[in-house]
Amino acid sequence: MTGRDWNERSVAMGEFVYPYYFGAGCLERITSAMAGYDTDQFVVVTDDHVLALHGEAFLSGLRRHAPVQVLSLPPGDAMKSVLHLNSHLEKAIGAGATRRSVVVAFGGGVVGNLAGLTAATLYRGIRLVHVPTTTIAAMDSVLSLKQTVNSGHGKNHIGTYHAPEAVYLDVDLLRTLDDKQLRSGLCEAAKNCLAIRPEALPVLRTRLAGGNLSSPDVLLWLLEESLTAKSSVTGDDAREQRSGLVLEYGHTVGHAVEMEDRRRRGTDGLSHGEAVMLGMLAAARISRGIGGLDDRAVAEHDELAHHLGVSPKLPDAVTPEAVMDVVRVDNKRGYLPVSGEEAAMVLLRELGHPYGSRDLPLTAVSLEAVKDVVTDMVRVPEPWHGSGAS
Ligand SMILES: NC(=O)c1ccc[n+]([C@@H]2O[C@H](COP(=O)([O-])OP(=O)(O)OC[C@H]3O[C@@H](n4cnc5c(N)ncnc54)[C@H](O)[C@@H]3O)[C@@H](O)[C@H]2O)c1
Repeated sequence: MTGRDWNERSVAMGEFVYPYYFGAGCLERITSAMAGYDTDQFVVVTDDHVLALHGEAFLSGLRRHAPVQVLSLPPGDAMKSVLHLNSHLEKAIGAGATRRSVVVAFGGGVVGNLAGLTAATLYRGIRLVHVPTTTIAAMDSVLSLKQTVNSGHGKNHIGTYHAPEAVYLDVDLLRTLDDKQLRSGLCEAAKNCLAIRPEALPVLRTRLAGGNLSSPDVLLWLLEESLTAKSSVTGDDAREQRSGLVLEYGHTVGHAVEMEDRRRRGTDGLSHGEAVMLGMLAAARISRGIGGLDDRAVAEHDELAHHLGVSPKLPDAVTPEAVMDVVRVDNKRGYLPVSGEEAAMVLLRELGHPYGSRDLPLTAVSLEAVKDVVTDMVRVPEPWHGSGAS
């Protein structure tokens, strides 16, 4: 049973098990709990926006227990680069970080990934703690050992796996998220329901239709749901290279659109979750095209997307050709033998059931079929009200 104040769940990723503490209004309890790390310094990796909003409250609590070094950069996916990783490592070492230091990821998924890779590579691996401040980070990226930065060719091409010591979430920190960022993580929660736990869809639909998505009760329910869904596929797949690959649902087209949109519109582009939702709308249509999902299942996708404010329209700044250039170098290449004319994708044959096997939920899709669907996404009229779920 989830209480408001302080809860603990275990996250199991293969042989790695770590605690996830969460509640509402528990920031002070979080910094007190972190006093338990016998550390010579906390290396807090964050971004300038999070620092301005919540830095004082968090850092003042942390400073009571050990010296704090802050590594902050302007927000945005551009932070996930080898250049910034190198700069963080050099600064951390220069300011006296040792093997006893603890890297604290204080921010969204971008910060978490860069902090994770900083912790994984500093002295060949030091302790990492996540304090997520976005819905994406809280419900998705901290439930993963993947720590990555982008290459010049695509997203998440460079990285490794590194388990955190623990995750600490105060959902009150999420109150300052704008609507777009709040909904971003909820799109990932929708992904979990569509691809893994369709039995949770009726409650999700009711929650989304009810509005007030930032209330602690809604966020705590969504967090519990994400913990259940993710652990059901990562419990014996810490590296998300077998059953956990289903979590990549919507990510092939989604990542490509996200990357191209951000390249052109910067932080005005789609959020990660919105891009993944758009990617799921594409995947649902591709699946229907090969005789998988029926109209009703596609409409189920559309209805959730509609509640989450995402339409199957490609952002004006992004062309199908640009999307396809990124799809061609998608980071799922190599899991499944595919020809130069195909992409390896997670596609559902029915809700909760991907094509392929539990251990390899991927299927080879012709790039032509992907391009046809992506090209259709240029012509979607605005405003869009979904394809009419019954
Ligand atoms: N398995 C994984 O490792 C995994 C899973 C999902 C996503 N990701 C990665 O996560 C990234 C997306 O995460 P994100 O959407 O959290 O991005 P983000 O970290 O860039 O945060 C989005 C924006 O929200 C702002 N922000 C953060 N906390 C805030 C708060 N409490 N109030 C107001 N504003 C706040 C940030 O400053 C930023 O501008 C992508 O790079 C994606 O690849 C990784």
